Amino acid sequence: MQEPSVSKIRRLFKKLNSPKIYQSKMSTVGKTITCKAAVAWEAGKDLTIETIEVAPPKAHEVRVKIAYTGVCHTDGYTLSGNDPEGQFPVVFGHEGAGVVESVGEGVTSVKVGDHVVCLYTPECRECKFCKSGKTNLCGKIRATQGKGVMPDGTSRFTCKGKTLLHYMGCSTFSQYTVLADISVVAVDPKAPMDRTCLLGCGITTGYGAAINTAKISEGDNIGVFGAGCIGLSVIQGAVQKKAGKIIVIDVNDAKKDWAFKFGATDFVNPTKLPEGQTIVDKLIEMTDGGCDFTFDCTGNVQVMRSALEACHKGWGESIIIGVAPAGKEISTRPFQLVTGRVWRGCAFGGIKGRTQMPDLVQDYMDGKIKVDEFITHRHPLKDINLAFHDMHKGDCIRAVVTMDE
Ligand SMILES: NC(=O)c1ccc[n+]([C@@H]2O[C@H](COP(=O)([O-])OP(=O)(O)OC[C@H]3O[C@@H](n4cnc5c(N)ncnc54)[C@H](O)[C@@H]3O)[C@@H](O)[C@H]2O)c1
Ligand SMILES: [Zn+2]
Ligand SMILES: [Zn+2]
Repeated sequence: MQEPSVSKIRRLFKKLNSPKIYQSKMSTVGKTITCKAAVAWEAGKDLTIETIEVAPPKAHEVRVKIAYTGVCHTDGYTLSGNDPEGQFPVVFGHEGAGVVESVGEGVTSVKVGDHVVCLYTPECRECKFCKSGKTNLCGKIRATQGKGVMPDGTSRFTCKGKTLLHYMGCSTFSQYTVLADISVVAVDPKAPMDRTCLLGCGITTGYGAAINTAKISEGDNIGVFGAGCIGLSVIQGAVQKKAGKIIVIDVNDAKKDWAFKFGATDFVNPTKLPEGQTIVDKLIEMTDGGCDFTFDCTGNVQVMRSALEACHKGWGESIIIGVAPAGKEISTRPFQLVTGRVWRGCAFGGIKGRTQMPDLVQDYMDGKIKVDEFITHRHPLKDINLAFHDMHKGDCIRAVVTMDE
């Protein structure tokens, strides 16, 4: 037998290492991926773990292998059937972090292998909202995102021959998901993804409301209604802004320790006030006239009213973060606003995801933002329903779901 020539060996080596062979043997690029996902077939029922098909990303779309996802009240709200815009069957989840598996045509903002955080509030940098410089809301894919489909009007998910809808432009309860390229942001790959997932909603929402939406000055007195993930994040923003009193108001006494751990100076349980004293009276008394800023982190419209009325006359501002049940309305006497109080609100803490998230992750890595402390429960994907049950118990701040288990 003739010895193979050096050039022949070289050619063989080159062929084995060529991207073509690599792609055809190993890669999922351009192919449908079959994976596990938690599917919500109908409202009010537990999720079921299913094998689903995830189509490749089309132009300006990104397919992400989700590593971890948080479970947020908004997922629970839509699952409950009380969300008038909720549609089924659907893959929920919007607090996710993962790695880019492949990208569609025209994607330049992220590349394969990037570690990303999913953004339910996208940032296109082209629409009227993005260009206004006044808001973090983006109008580019709002209509299709609300309908549970990708910007071209179709879904990338199927299961047992049925089409599944997307959720909040993210659908992080699937091991693989497809998002618009404006709905993902690459972050430091050294940041652990079981932590960065929580920056995709809860932590950023509260922290952003305190550092972005409220213009807190040193010494300002703050009232935070509700010490869940959102309220605790508001506290850490207020601490960073060197607020004066940071008064936490929660009906659950067990939240007192949590509030102090994050930097609150006072805790009030509104159900335990002396007869005849309201929470508004109490806060006005504690702050010599009212708070400079208050935050509703409960979603309760009565609480929202108290939060406004506990603001200082002339300048106090109340920020609504909580999401109220469908059909609920807020009310107060107009005189409250005539005399200078301001009522406002924000989504995702007013944070522009693609522009500001890398810095938030850096702040976490530098120890400036607490994230680890929020994780009270962990579950593998197969037990994701437990995370929904955890949420309704008083001892859960955030449950993180591991997607590859
Ligand atoms: N605006 C946004 O972008 C955005 C994003 C995420 C979540 N949210 C909303 O923020 C709210 C808080 O979310 P979370 O994850 O922190 O919830 P959570 O349930 O973990 O915390 C809520 C806290 O409020 C307390 N509370 C309930 N009723 C109260 C009352 N009457 N007075 C005082 N305290 C009361 C509870 O004991 C609990 O500690 C929810 O409504 C959620 O839907 C809004
Ligand atoms: Zn959320
Ligand atoms: Zn936009």
